[in-house]
Amino acid sequence: MLKEIHEQPQVIAETLEGRIAGGKVLNEILGVGASELLQQTQAVHIVACGTSYHAGLVARYWIETLAGVPCTTEIASEYRYRQPVVQPGTLFLTISQSGETADTLAALKMAKSRGYHAELAVCNVPESSLVRESRLVLMTRAGPEIGVASTKAFTTQLATLALFALALGKVKGMDEGRYQRGVRQLETLPSMVADVLALDPQIKALAEHFVDKEHALFLGRGTHWPIAMEGALKLKEISYIHAEAYAAGELKHGPLALVDADMPVIAIAPNDHLIDKLSSNMEEVRARGGRLYLFVEQGIKHGLHGESVLTLPKCGEISAPVLFTIPLQLLAYHVAVLRGMMPGL
Ligand code: BG6
Repeated sequence: MLKEIHEQPQVIAETLEGRIAGGKVLNEILGVGASELLQQTQAVHIVACGTSYHAGLVARYWIETLAGVPCTTEIASEYRYRQPVVQPGTLFLTISQSGETADTLAALKMAKSRGYHAELAVCNVPESSLVRESRLVLMTRAGPEIGVASTKAFTTQLATLALFALALGKVKGMDEGRYQRGVRQLETLPSMVADVLALDPQIKALAEHFVDKEHALFLGRGTHWPIAMEGALKLKEISYIHAEAYAAGELKHGPLALVDADMPVIAIAPNDHLIDKLSSNMEEVRARGGRLYLFVEQGIKHGLHGESVLTLPKCGEISAPVLFTIPLQLLAYHVAVLRGMMPGL
């Protein structure tokens, strides 16, 4: 897992290679005739499982915000057993590391009889069933992922989905400045991921605070709500600590009652338009005597303070969800090692 976490700068660079040129995302990434297909796309329906589902939740924000195209994201094991109503011009998008997840494959099979505009797979295994059965394919290039907890597959999925959202945004007339900034963030993403990986000693020290805990709560807003979900999933999957994620605005509708000194709260705080809202949620945690661990973006003006504050470099709407994922992966890893869940270490 640690090896795969540290491969991320390299595999993200490989995933982006040949797909951006002259400050633009190349339309050919989706094959011949992609411009027309994107032009005709009126909506996107994303279906996936597990970590791939979390990538799809981030993509939903990007697709709606950048391209102005309606998008929904759904768990494959739910989708396959219901009767979806499909609007004309809807693109069906599956996301899967392996391309062999039974629910995702079954969802694709069902979708083919539902009148979607086309099926697009974002996948890491070229010879997989999902790739073979989809009309359009965007490969992630994470290489084989052996670790139980998905790490590099997730961040390469995000990079690939960002390419897609920007390509769609371009044909749908998104703001040129915003487009340029998005492309630039992708171009610099590998080196920024490497910068965040260098924070590892601080994250290892932070992990000490979690060793004897049985529960943890992860909070985020916007694109960072699914990142909080991913952080919680990593922690529970490998350290066996019960972890939940909440959209920070939901805190007051129940989970706040559980917050005390034994329930560490990890808040993900990028410097975006939601920071004021998140900041007031942090006050709610403090008022309950909760232990707050903050992952913040450099330059935040708010006096956010907690037990510990980890500062990430300045990022943007595309790079932030990827960059904030890295310390959450490392936290889960170090907590698991400290709790003796990684035999041989
Ligand atoms: C689970 C894995 O079984 O399947 C997760 O533990 C993964 O890590 C999920 O995200 C979905 O897998 P895939 O291959 O469809 O992305």
